[in-house]
Amino acid sequence: MVNKSAQNALLAWYETDGRHELPWRKTDNIYHIYVSEIMLQQTQVNRVRDEYYPKFLARFPTIETLAEAELDEVFALWSGLGYYSRARNLHKTAQLARGGVPYEQKELLKLPGIGQYTASAICSFGYRQNVSVVDTNIARVLKRYFGLLAVQDKTLWKYADRFLNRSDARDHNLALMDLGSLVCLPKNPQCEVCPLRLECKGKDEPELYTRKKKKEYESLELFYGVYIKNKKVALKISEEKLYKGMLVLPSVDPIEENFIATFKHSYTKYRLTISLYHINELYDEVVWIDLNELKNAPISSLTKKAAHFFSLNDVLI
Ligand code: ADE
Repeated sequence: MVNKSAQNALLAWYETDGRHELPWRKTDNIYHIYVSEIMLQQTQVNRVRDEYYPKFLARFPTIETLAEAELDEVFALWSGLGYYSRARNLHKTAQLARGGVPYEQKELLKLPGIGQYTASAICSFGYRQNVSVVDTNIARVLKRYFGLLAVQDKTLWKYADRFLNRSDARDHNLALMDLGSLVCLPKNPQCEVCPLRLECKGKDEPELYTRKKKKEYESLELFYGVYIKNKKVALKISEEKLYKGMLVLPSVDPIEENFIATFKHSYTKYRLTISLYHINELYDEVVWIDLNELKNAPISSLTKKAAHFFSLNDVLI
């Protein structure tokens, strides 16, 4: 079942064409590898490599330095990268794993911000364990290679296990990743130079195996303040495009000590990540809305969702 010649061709291709120079591939420092994987989750390789990764590690060279830092400083170094929950989780994980990044996948998965992909990446690229890795690039390669039109994630991981080259799992995974980002492209894949072209089931119709183009969504991260007095909440009339004219929570700059909750919300073409913070000063003109009246107030479903996090919880009021 395992096609040894395909595995060998893949490794030979990686040897000559792979991205060996990426700094997190040239280190054995597990903490550095872990930081790179968190940064790379939603950010382009070049931005991480040239800017954020070196800057972050210059300030926090060890897991202890990160664990001991103020979260605000971590946020400051993360500024511009977006998805700030990654920074919060990184900081929390550093505090929980101060003695060292765990070796076992099972233990890694218990840490905030570490899911199946990141745990496998740390085990494969850092600890050089014989485990498979599936990210979006690898998923596309595998779906085409095995001719899988629609497949559950866990099935895809089984295919990855089946194809894994156990005599050099790390390079095998990195090779698949690079093949996905350099050759097996979503559009116009370069099949003629692909080391897997001979056995690839998708080569005649490679675009069949990439998802239909979804609607263009825009991700936005918003920070709102919650000020509650006498069982009333302070809302303001929005001047922002998104909810213009409606009552919304006042916008704030995030201050970590006052953090309440983060949740997702979809609104037209926007995919929002909303974080709520307690505030005790108001800069906007506000309207006080009785918490019992909130459900009838002119508020968006976003603000209603937000209300779940503060109006139902006596401790917070
Ligand atoms: N090398 C190791 N992990 C990587 C990732 N997530 N993206 C790009 N290159 C990597």
